Amino acid sequence: MDENVKVTIGGALRVHRLGFGAMRLCGRHVWGWPHERENATRVLRRAVELGVNFIDTADAYGPHVNEEQIAEALHPYPSGLVLATKGGATRPGPQEWRRDGRPAHLREACEGSLRRLRLERIDLYQLHGVDPRVPFEEQIGTLRDLRDEGKIRFVGLSNVDVGQLQKAERIVEIASVQNNYNVGNRTSEPVLEYCESRGIVFIPYFPLDAGDIEALDVLRPVAEAHGVTVFQVALAWLLHRSPAMLPIPGTSSVSHLEQNVAASDITLASEECAALDPAGMAGTR
Ligand SMILES: NC(=O)c1ccc[n+]([C@@H]2O[C@H](COP(=O)([O-])OP(=O)(O)OC[C@H]3O[C@@H](n4cnc5c(N)ncnc54)[C@H](OP(=O)(O)O)[C@@H]3O)[C@@H](O)[C@H]2O)c1
Repeated sequence: MDENVKVTIGGALRVHRLGFGAMRLCGRHVWGWPHERENATRVLRRAVELGVNFIDTADAYGPHVNEEQIAEALHPYPSGLVLATKGGATRPGPQEWRRDGRPAHLREACEGSLRRLRLERIDLYQLHGVDPRVPFEEQIGTLRDLRDEGKIRFVGLSNVDVGQLQKAERIVEIASVQNNYNVGNRTSEPVLEYCESRGIVFIPYFPLDAGDIEALDVLRPVAEAHGVTVFQVALAWLLHRSPAMLPIPGTSSVSHLEQNVAASDITLASEECAALDPAGMAGTR
């Protein structure tokens, strides 16, 4: 991976801008273990071999399974590997995702992640989503307390708007925001722009629209011109879009992982980027 293509989290953790989202390594519906347990180990080890040094997970993936897969495959961790996890979401069943931002839950979730990941401190701990039933200040304040106690190094948020982000910044320094964003879904554009202006890392989840990005016709001619796949163009575009961007494409396939990492070496011409802009995309979806 290109050494120049890096981003700094919290002013201290320097990582390659193409990370890995580990969620897809769990069983179907992000529930339980997959049939072939060794596949997760292969994919995670290959990611690190290829130079990926930012891996995203959450206690809710599996639940718990994904963090255990990461520890099983990679512990003791190579130096420079940054693990980012999340708390504040629960999984009553395979199809259910709920939020729980109560301070007691967030504390318990963080302790569980520390144990499963076999860490003394989590580099980046993200609130999976704001729980509307719990005072905002209590949720963010708990993350600040966990940081002050040394259990978390940096605090991140997920699924937030600019207003929530600004409110959170008044309580604790925010190192990253993880929102749904890809070439076909720019609803988080204001959040990205705000992050860029504040030195906050923006982590787009669903960077490949959960695998549906190939439906975007506008990607095809660019892919053909470069002799690469539309998935690779979608990732290359994200990296061109902003220096604050740290995409975390997910896959359970070693060959897709290799293609995704190779996307960080693709240089798009300015007219190609323009063609993929919202105006360039009008009428193509
Ligand atoms: N904060 C949140 O609320 C939130 C929500 C969702 C996800 N996330 C995070 O974001 C990460 C990424 O999201 P995601 O994995 O759901 O979506 P994604 O990265 O947009 O897309 C993954 C899908 O694309 C396919 N794919 C990946 N690379 C490909 C390639 N080179 N060619 C063809 N198909 C390819 C994968 O299938 P194969 O397995 O067959 O490659 C998979 O179905 C997750 O791992 C998770 O860490 C966060």
